[in-house]
Amino acid sequence: MATNYKDIGFVNTKEMFKKAFEGKYAIPAFNFNNLEQIQAVINGCGESKSPVILQVSSGARKYADQTMLRYMAEGAMQMAKEKGYNIPVALHLDHGDTYELCVSCIESGFSSVMIDGSHHPYEKNIELTRKVVEYAHKYDVSVEGELGVLAGIEDDVVAAKSIYTQPDEVEDFVSRTGVDSLAISIGTSHGAFKFKPEQCTKNKDGVLVPPPLRFDILEEIEKRIPGFPIVLHGASSVLPEYVNLINNNGGALEAAVGIPAEQLRKAAKSAVCKINIDSDGRLVVTGMIRKIFAEKPEEFDPRKYLGPARDELTKMIIDKNTHVLGSAGRA
Ligand code: G3H
Ligand code: 13P
Ligand code: ZN
Repeated sequence: MATNYKDIGFVNTKEMFKKAFEGKYAIPAFNFNNLEQIQAVINGCGESKSPVILQVSSGARKYADQTMLRYMAEGAMQMAKEKGYNIPVALHLDHGDTYELCVSCIESGFSSVMIDGSHHPYEKNIELTRKVVEYAHKYDVSVEGELGVLAGIEDDVVAAKSIYTQPDEVEDFVSRTGVDSLAISIGTSHGAFKFKPEQCTKNKDGVLVPPPLRFDILEEIEKRIPGFPIVLHGASSVLPEYVNLINNNGGALEAAVGIPAEQLRKAAKSAVCKINIDSDGRLVVTGMIRKIFAEKPEEFDPRKYLGPARDELTKMIIDKNTHVLGSAGRA
């Protein structure tokens, strides 16, 4: 028996993106795989009064099971209500790769899906995306499409080099597919190693500074599809504070580098209405667990290391919403 997301209390992304575009901020889209991550996302967004997109990747579905994650999201909604958090929450499929997967998420209560046809030839991408849009819109579910390929690991697909989105294609793609938002490639990539050290310069503290995002391409895209919501994947900053926490407690993340906060601030003020963050959360959790294991080798109660990891993740989320995305206080 199919469930409509509205009966659970989720919202689609339409209104969120309209407000984000007009208000010149971006909605955070946080990936979750387990209890502590979803608690941190809801608590962090609830405390900072930010709308939020909870997103489920293919790795998350393999790890935790799609049905489990969907009911965790419903539980999180219920908890948010009981805590008095009055924030819009969307449940989104991240990097959906087939029509059937999108249908199964929509039938189970997701309010938004991404159909990532970016690895297909252009016409095949259009055909697949259009098919998903036709189904999703019957239920008022939002659809995100993608044009251009991000370097790095995009779920199970590894691309050696970014293929930037071609501004000449976006108008045709958006009008022929009917998508509600468009993920683009302007130099971001997934994971904690977004740039090779030789692509970067070093600042006075020896921190690697990556080449800037291609804001020129973004501006061209904005001209072709004025007012249309753009999505940035691979947008973690790979915060040096947490990379150091990992490395100072037995980890070995050499040359991890992400997107500097000031570039994300600039993007959030543009047509970019959704910013995807997964790796930053992974780094926080790993750093905190490593620290606790190093300081308290006798500890064996998971609540004693997962709890502090969750609390630090909540802090990081509040900070992102407040100081980077500008979504705090917009719920
Ligand atoms: O799309 C990229 C996300 O970071 C998800 O990665 O499939 O390993 O969970 P994952
Ligand atoms: P990061 O790896 O930069 O966090 O990107 C996550 C993402 O784009 C999920 O779709
Ligand atoms: Zn992504």
